[in-house]
Amino acid sequence: MTVFQKLERCFQSVENKIPFVPKVALILGSGLGDYGDYVKMEGTIDYHEIEGFPVSTVPGHKGRFLFAHIGKVPVVMMQGRVHYYEGYSMQDVVLPTRLMRRLGAEILFLTNAAGSVNPDFCAGDFMLIKDQISDFVPSPLIGKNPDELGPRFPDMSEIYDRDLQELLKKEAENLGISLREGTYLQFTGPNFESPAEVRMARVLGADAVGMSTACEAVAANHMGMKICGISFISNLGCGIGDHPLSHQEVGEAAKIAAPRFRKLVTAGITAMGETVLQK
Ligand code: HPA
Repeated sequence: MTVFQKLERCFQSVENKIPFVPKVALILGSGLGDYGDYVKMEGTIDYHEIEGFPVSTVPGHKGRFLFAHIGKVPVVMMQGRVHYYEGYSMQDVVLPTRLMRRLGAEILFLTNAAGSVNPDFCAGDFMLIKDQISDFVPSPLIGKNPDELGPRFPDMSEIYDRDLQELLKKEAENLGISLREGTYLQFTGPNFESPAEVRMARVLGADAVGMSTACEAVAANHMGMKICGISFISNLGCGIGDHPLSHQEVGEAAKIAAPRFRKLVTAGITAMGETVLQK
């Protein structure tokens, strides 16, 4: 079965279950996982209800799509993303992103928890993603190009949409939430980086490192979506901080930041409904 055929089969299975056409797709990273509890849910679909769909195996990551309006904007959310380190092919890792586009979403809002490799950043900061480095993971576009989705050699000169960046900066300022800006670098994980790898990431121009997001942005850009993203800096990169890293530390930091993260995401999407999506 081709990538496109698999996507179509997933699309039909979701379309038959819930008649909802989203404008924005939101991927909930660590710490935003319970965002669904704060919106008026209009429907959910568990990933395992969708034939052939990858199911997240990370503790603390549920695996389902949530459908809700945020402000006036119809939004599909991924509660529990699928990671490359879980053993899925890159094509499966980005299948949920492609499906959200296929359902109708024009904007992809990416969130994640990340480690800082910029010595000016602090744990607890938020970072607006301005650009990315995805070369440490295979491109999700490797293989026969699904021409129905996008071109063989897509341009990546502006993965993160300028208007959306401005909008998020403005909303953060209105809320009094300080927003750093920088480049996100994706490693495969699941191991955290060594101090030398953190130094390398810095030399290469990264500000934050994580185990997701960049591959999803490549697939979404290929399909012509407008993309924005915010990293929650849950910890300093290994060797910058003074203690070993753990999944637990990331989860605990993210929990503390969750109320601010929720506010920022809600304000951002509401504002998208009034500006970007009106155009
Ligand atoms: N490295 C990679 N991924 C992460 C980190 C980190 O330090 N923190 C949260 N996700």
